[in-house]
Amino acid sequence: MTILVTGGAGFIGSHATVELLENGYKVVVVDNLSNSQKASIDRIKEMTGKDFAFHQVDLLDSQALDDIFSKYDFSAVMHFAGYKAVGQSVEMPLSYYHNNISGTLTLCEMMLKHNVQKLVFSSSATVYGLPERVPIEESFSLSATNPYGRTKLMIEEILRDLALSNPSIRIAILRYFNPIGAHPSGKLGEDPRGIPNNLIPYITQVAIGKQPELKIFGGDYETNDGTGVRDYIHVMDLVKGHIKALEYLEKHEGVETFNLGTGTGYSVLEIVNSFNDVTGKQIPYQITDRRPGDIGVCYANPEKAKKLLGWQAEKSLKEMCRDSWNWQVQNPDGFTQ
Ligand code: UD1
Repeated sequence: MTILVTGGAGFIGSHATVELLENGYKVVVVDNLSNSQKASIDRIKEMTGKDFAFHQVDLLDSQALDDIFSKYDFSAVMHFAGYKAVGQSVEMPLSYYHNNISGTLTLCEMMLKHNVQKLVFSSSATVYGLPERVPIEESFSLSATNPYGRTKLMIEEILRDLALSNPSIRIAILRYFNPIGAHPSGKLGEDPRGIPNNLIPYITQVAIGKQPELKIFGGDYETNDGTGVRDYIHVMDLVKGHIKALEYLEKHEGVETFNLGTGTGYSVLEIVNSFNDVTGKQIPYQITDRRPGDIGVCYANPEKAKKLLGWQAEKSLKEMCRDSWNWQVQNPDGFTQ
């Protein structure tokens, strides 16, 4: 079975590609490398000892995509490609709508044209907006607080309409909580460009001395220690959920949505303490104002994925921090050698 992986050079897509190869799937990766590096593709080949086709193609290039769909016989698509920075999406909304939505539309058109019926889509817990309560269930009401989140929400709706119009289409929408960690080998990991927006890459850059101190955004949330609580999930657990979703689509029609989280929330200070333990250093931090648009507490109810996919996250917070740190130490400048 050959799987088309869009965004396969990026953080989650690259780990998913490894997991697919190790589970016996053939893989074709398309990525425009707008926010990733070709070196990650080389690393995947080196780590798995398996070769696969990589096409540096933009999903908006429908002709190039058409050629790729003609060349291979795909059994399914895993769709990771997309812009993902919240702050940037507020500054450049049109670019986010154009890239994320038009890219997905083109991809779906090619799936229809070439009779590819199964899709696993990379969504986000951001679609719950300010959740009514925690833990968050898939049936909760959806909203978005920024253009990035709105692209995820709109794509989810587009996919539901697509499945309604075409009963042979099978789609798994996976809502990620906070993916962190890295491949345990230290060969693959998250490689943000510039100053990181997300907590873990920021902390590892502080620990390695690239940033002077962590700014903790808000110490007055209604949580145990006042700092924000999130459901951090190891990227290796996350990508295992994708394989389970693919297996699920073999047997089930229509669209199904799953939370991929651990079900446990940790505060920013708990994360800092865990990094202190793992690195043997004291991460310097300062508590500052809340970041606009942030919510206090967000964690999943992952029961649906457990019941229907037979999947649950297994790795501990310590493993997540250890693997994030291992990646940072082995690759201080990311994939740029
Ligand atoms: C963010 C996005 C979310 C996206 C996800 C993808 C926002 C508002 N939300 O989630 O839509 O799906 O990334 O990875 O950006 N924190 C600090 N200092 C920092 C960075 C973060 O204190 O320098 C805190 C945040 O306030 C939050 C926690 O750490 O409580 C996690 O933040 P982050 O890693 O940015 O993820 P989210 O905001 O949950």
